[in-house]
Amino acid sequence: MKLSKRVNQLEASVTLAASARAKALQAQGRDILMLTIGEPDFTTPEHIANAAKAAIDSGKASFYTQASGLPELKDAVGTYFESHYGYGLTQDEVVVTAGAKFALYAFFASILDAGDEVIIPTPYWVSYADQIKMLGGVPVFAVGTQEAAFKVTVQQLDALKTPRTRVLILNSPSNPTGMIYTAEELEAIGNWAVANDVLILADDIYGRLVYNGNHFTPISTLSDEIRKQTLIINGVSKTYAMTGWRIGFAVGDPEIIAAMSKIVSQTTSNPSAVAQYAAIEALTGDQAPIEAMRVEFEQRLNAIYPLVNEIPGFEAIKPQGAFYLFPKVRGAMVKKGFTDVTDFCNDILEETGVAVVTGAGFGANENLRLSYATDLATLVEAVNRLKAYMAK
Ligand SMILES: Cc1ncc(COP(=O)(O)O)c(C=O)c1O
Repeated sequence: MKLSKRVNQLEASVTLAASARAKALQAQGRDILMLTIGEPDFTTPEHIANAAKAAIDSGKASFYTQASGLPELKDAVGTYFESHYGYGLTQDEVVVTAGAKFALYAFFASILDAGDEVIIPTPYWVSYADQIKMLGGVPVFAVGTQEAAFKVTVQQLDALKTPRTRVLILNSPSNPTGMIYTAEELEAIGNWAVANDVLILADDIYGRLVYNGNHFTPISTLSDEIRKQTLIINGVSKTYAMTGWRIGFAVGDPEIIAAMSKIVSQTTSNPSAVAQYAAIEALTGDQAPIEAMRVEFEQRLNAIYPLVNEIPGFEAIKPQGAFYLFPKVRGAMVKKGFTDVTDFCNDILEETGVAVVTGAGFGANENLRLSYATDLATLVEAVNRLKAYMAK
């Protein structure tokens, strides 16, 4: 079969590939501990599920909605922004999409022409680079090292800027590192973007999952100029334990939002109506269950982080948000005779049954990702198996 050049240049998502490999071993009866998961292990809070049931029972979930999303949901996003960003929105500043992932795709499709460049700080969430390539754009990587807390500086961005640079991606708190940029760091980056007319794509999806007194500053709140230069991606998946519902949204300049809405209208049409009604309740209803989940993640992080650093050859910096640890494992690889981190992760899976994700897909060749979106007993057992593996 002749497939398109477009699809042939894509990598399948490494996180989904790691989960698939682990599930195949599980199907053979192996005892597998899944630390590959990029979603909360909680079910959707009851009041949100009830809102969805009511929308089905009333019949209103039976029909198409506006392609760019229900006006009531756009207003709910506005209410959410008033609470968490300190400014309100008009409906033409919001588009609702089938997951934040599709909001990103619609954004890149709206902004990029062939050869346009997007600066991606590393380590980065796996889908950014492939979506950009799929649309003819060119990912340009700004290297964030573990020694620099996985953050990049304006000097680095300046060195990478060309006349083709259109967008800078900013994902804080980050998947996979959990690091958060401070307000001062963001201000410097935001002012650089304004001065150079580079759009900021702020992926704020982990903004509510922040721990131990750390603070998330949305870059769009720093000045009117920076806000005008920023397109925000967010959604209900991570904060509200709603990954399966597939509701994300983008907020920004009405001209970009209208372009993205056009892409949505010609591809997915509206996101699932029932899920949109559930999302209204998520954003505007009782927030207590959300805080309970956040606290649970925080407790797991505080329990598991010191244990991971006890594994010989594993060196992690403490994440401030999201639900991943991203240890550097160079020492462990050397000890076990590996030069490639993906081979090392595959060996860990074979030998211990602990499923982790290689850092290679995130642009980090000496790290691996462990998700702590699973119960503490599983996490502790996984660390014990990894210690035993390293001692062998
Ligand atoms: C950084 C980041 N952005 C966006 C998404 C997409 O989330 P969703 O499509 O479920 O809304 C994810 C999901 O893994 C993510 O980790």
